[in-house]
Amino acid sequence: MQSEIRRKLLAAFSEADGGYVSGQKISELLGCSRTAVWKHIEELRKEGFVLEAVRRKGYRIVKTPEKITANEIQLGLQTDFIGQNIVYYDTVDSTQKIAHELSQKGAEEGTLVVADEQTGGRGRMARVWYSPKGTGIWMSIILRPNIPLQKTPQLTLLTAVALVEGIEEATGLSPTIKWPNDILINGKKAVGILTELEAEADQVHSVIIGIGINVNQQIDEFPEAIRNTATSIAIEKGEKIHRALIIQKFLERFEKWYTTYLEHGFKPIKLLWESYSISLNKTIHARTLSGTVVGKALGINEEGALLIETSEGKIEKVYSADIDI
Ligand code: BTN
Repeated sequence: MQSEIRRKLLAAFSEADGGYVSGQKISELLGCSRTAVWKHIEELRKEGFVLEAVRRKGYRIVKTPEKITANEIQLGLQTDFIGQNIVYYDTVDSTQKIAHELSQKGAEEGTLVVADEQTGGRGRMARVWYSPKGTGIWMSIILRPNIPLQKTPQLTLLTAVALVEGIEEATGLSPTIKWPNDILINGKKAVGILTELEAEADQVHSVIIGIGINVNQQIDEFPEAIRNTATSIAIEKGEKIHRALIIQKFLERFEKWYTTYLEHGFKPIKLLWESYSISLNKTIHARTLSGTVVGKALGINEEGALLIETSEGKIEKVYSADIDI
């Protein structure tokens, strides 16, 4: 189904809020025949939507599938540009890779690449990101901010803020942030963020934000190596959660804070980030490529670097590290 038709159709059902939308209304809205309307409805059914058809009343959505297809995400999504163009894959190597390719072909800002499974998911520091089928959220967003290169790490922090709030809204859980880009639930990692750039000299062409969220895995589904440190939303919540809902809530928060950031700068984001961080005012070990810095985490600076006060009273700026709390 063409994405424009899908968007209009789902918007109509969304507006009806569980009620009926007449075939006549749909055919007017889409500018197509009643037979074509029926075909579009059949396509939604194939995707797992349960639609009821009643004579003289029309169609209504009874159940949405536990899927993360473009339809599922767009139904009820309240954003202007983030996630309005969605590219979905059942299986893909890495959504980051696809997002880079699309970005080079000129994909619009806010384009979201989502996959049900990744076979070559990438984590930070060239690590593998385990991305099994049907249980998590593996997605990448294309941004085209007009900001200097050195400010791009701020977008990772902004993403973390939007994730904390989006997950909280969708699940009632209270995630925290471990600098720079891990989201923890009850002290274990549930989400990772990988920010990559396309830039030359000091001009940013695009920023690709990759996000992996463990949603419905059970503990024995994680590789043994991460079983003690990783968790999922379902483990912490005690029940499975609709992945599309989490994506929607995240995209809405993300658009809000990204727009605020472009208009008013990093300050409002910094304050929120610090309020959600579990690292601040604690003694931490930051393992950087050039050695370990030990000290009290004071906060972040404008560039998103972590400020650590060592026992000698020196303030070290850490740009990239693994943190032990
Ligand atoms: C981390 O190491 O914590 C970051 C993990 C980022 C994983 C996501 S899943 C979607 C996107 N595609 C990838 O290959 N990686 C990111």
